[in-house]
Amino acid sequence: MIDYTLEDGIAVLTVDNPPVNALGHALRAGLVEAVRRFEADGAARTAVLVGGGRLFLGGADISEFGKPPQSPGLPEVCDVIEASAKPVVAAIHGAALGGGLEVALGCHYRLAMPGTKLGLPEVTLGILPGAGGTQRMPRLIGTEQAAEMIAFGAPLTPERAQELGLLDRIGEGDVRTAGIAFARELLDQGAGPRRTSDMRAEPADLTDLRTRVTKKMRGQPAPGTALDSVENAARLPFREGLAEERRLFQGLIETPQRAALIHAFFAERAVTKLPEIAGVAPRDVTSIGVIGGGTMGSGIATAALLAGLDVTLVERDDSAAEAARDRIASNLAAAAKRGKITEAKRDALAQALTTATDYGALAKADLAIEAVFESMEVKHEVFAALDKAMKPRAILATNTSYLDIDAIAAATTRPSDVIGLHFFSPAHVMKLLEVVVAKETDPQVTATAFALARRLGKTPVRAGVCDGFIGNRILSRYRAAADRMVLDGASPYAIDRALEAFGFPMGPYRVSDLAGLDIGFMTRERKAATAHPEDRRATFADALYHAGRLGQKTGKGYYNYTEDRRGAVDPEAVALIEAAQEGSRSFSDEEITARYMAAMVDEGARVVDEGIALRPLDVDVVKLMGYGFPRWKGGPMHWADAQGPGRIAADIRRFAGEDAHFWQVSPLLDRLAREGRTFGDLNP
Ligand code: 3HC
Ligand code: NAI
Repeated sequence: MIDYTLEDGIAVLTVDNPPVNALGHALRAGLVEAVRRFEADGAARTAVLVGGGRLFLGGADISEFGKPPQSPGLPEVCDVIEASAKPVVAAIHGAALGGGLEVALGCHYRLAMPGTKLGLPEVTLGILPGAGGTQRMPRLIGTEQAAEMIAFGAPLTPERAQELGLLDRIGEGDVRTAGIAFARELLDQGAGPRRTSDMRAEPADLTDLRTRVTKKMRGQPAPGTALDSVENAARLPFREGLAEERRLFQGLIETPQRAALIHAFFAERAVTKLPEIAGVAPRDVTSIGVIGGGTMGSGIATAALLAGLDVTLVERDDSAAEAARDRIASNLAAAAKRGKITEAKRDALAQALTTATDYGALAKADLAIEAVFESMEVKHEVFAALDKAMKPRAILATNTSYLDIDAIAAATTRPSDVIGLHFFSPAHVMKLLEVVVAKETDPQVTATAFALARRLGKTPVRAGVCDGFIGNRILSRYRAAADRMVLDGASPYAIDRALEAFGFPMGPYRVSDLAGLDIGFMTRERKAATAHPEDRRATFADALYHAGRLGQKTGKGYYNYTEDRRGAVDPEAVALIEAAQEGSRSFSDEEITARYMAAMVDEGARVVDEGIALRPLDVDVVKLMGYGFPRWKGGPMHWADAQGPGRIAADIRRFAGEDAHFWQVSPLLDRLAREGRTFGDLNP
């Protein structure tokens, strides 16, 4: 795990634990052994610790959390390094995160290469830096700066880290060579070990930071607890602060938030590995076409340009093409403003965009993504035209939200080259991509879609064809549950409040206002023909639509945005809603949440059972990344496990007592409840 070499008085300790040099038990033991060997090695006067592979150290081994700890622990590793009588230099490249940065803090000197990520992201996993990070970091860079870094978990750039005194130097060239050169300079200067634990941290007033962090990370105990520990650095002697840090860390390990956040971490990685495309080589994609440059098409084009692809966008006429070009330019300008790209890069990217009104412009494209109006008729026309215009083996993708992709594929002579690429709005920002595999889609086309997702910086989740795929299908169901509560007498404002308290950034009716009430109206119209007689239409939403209250874009929807930009309850909307309500029953917040979540979990179970989602964790990732499900609750299926599937099934049976048409326990949920198993048992 550690390669030990001696180069002219300098011991080089190279960590070799791919893929990310996570500090699991074997590596921790290896590090302690290597430091002991260095101390005993009379020929070695100083040591350089360097990561083999793509980064320094990726942190504690997250998969060990919740299991019995094995000695040596990470705090001990940091102590052993710091206690060395001869200096140890950390030479950092790629990333030093969490426990990885804590090991660097145990070293006596630190150098990092340009572009390295230096951070303590533990709070994003529901824990705190538990290997001395909350005690050494304030001593090294100041209590306030350390508190900020630890509370939000965001990494520092090497430049900023050097300014703060976390780094002694930014290296050049190869990390190993730079580390050795720095160690040699230190040797020449006769520099000895310099221990952070000997320094003092000054007290700081963290009240404002606590307010900000509570607001941004509500529902999560980790950031506040981490700040308590940081404050200890200025209050307690080092050893006592360290012992207290350990105690607080162990407490957080036991929380459901920790379990949920770590589930989310691994689930987001698991979805990207699709067994059906293992070993299948993707097709080359360098040039893509986008058809339709409205909200989605322009966002998709922006994402592709930012990833370095050539983009040809086809619109209906010149003025629509011009409007699309403007939207893309403004997306790129916003990216430049946020510092994501330079102004020069923005101009270069704009050059990689071609707009056209003729499908002939797509003759050379490797893949086309259609984002025209949500109408089967229009999609058919577009796919027939794409089929004619595009070269053999080019991929034809649709961004449809709900439509049957098998039917779209049937409009072409090459259904095996057709796939769904369902982006989320705004498409150049949102990281989720549902890859909808149709009946005849070639695995190579699926592999290409997954590779493209990675290139675009997106997380792909495989979905099967059905009305709404994974995300929108489940959404339709819990929206329907909410709408039924409103029809029975609940206030949409109360529903929003209850679900925002649960942890969603916005309740469903605020989301309607954001998306536009015309979207929901059109969906209801589309579904009316196939509706079951006992399905209940959201007539209150129709009333708002007919009154021209389309949401934020018209200044009024469920809420009124004309004076308060966040939206205020509007008596006019209340009157329209009340007139359309069929009952006057009141629902407690608890009852609202129970119904909404039961609908979500049950439909999630159906989606898994039918093979639309591969596993429960795929459902969790879609809801976490695309629908604002609170990450610290892990996604609906993880949340259901925490409640117990039996409890959810019992809730549904209770609701079925009033409405046996809408509420039925799905076969999978029923099975799990009866067998005392969980959705997690179905994950790999
Ligand atoms: N522990 C265990 N496994 C880890 C890991 C970790 N800390 N970090 C990454 N992995 C695994 C991933 O699950 C993935 O496994 P897979 O191939 O089987 O799916 C593999 O390593 C590669 O990871 P990525 O796909 O994420 O690789 P990238 O190159 O995209 O990113 C990274 C590398 C930036 C290091 C990223 O993996 C990352 O952010 N990791 C987590 C870092 C972190 O949060 N560290 C703090 C841990 S908590 C801690 O240290 C507590 C301490 O204070 C006591
Ligand atoms: P939009 O109405 O903003 O844009 C559609 C664009 O397609 C318009 O610019 C129109 O001029 C163009 N267009 C129509 N017919 C065309 C044709 N035959 N050839 C070339 N261009 C044509 O619609 P939006 O919101 O961008 O949606 C597009 C698709 O993406 C729909 O299928 C929708 O369901 C889906 N979608 C929408 C999401 C959203 O949040 N808006 C999210 C995910 C998918």
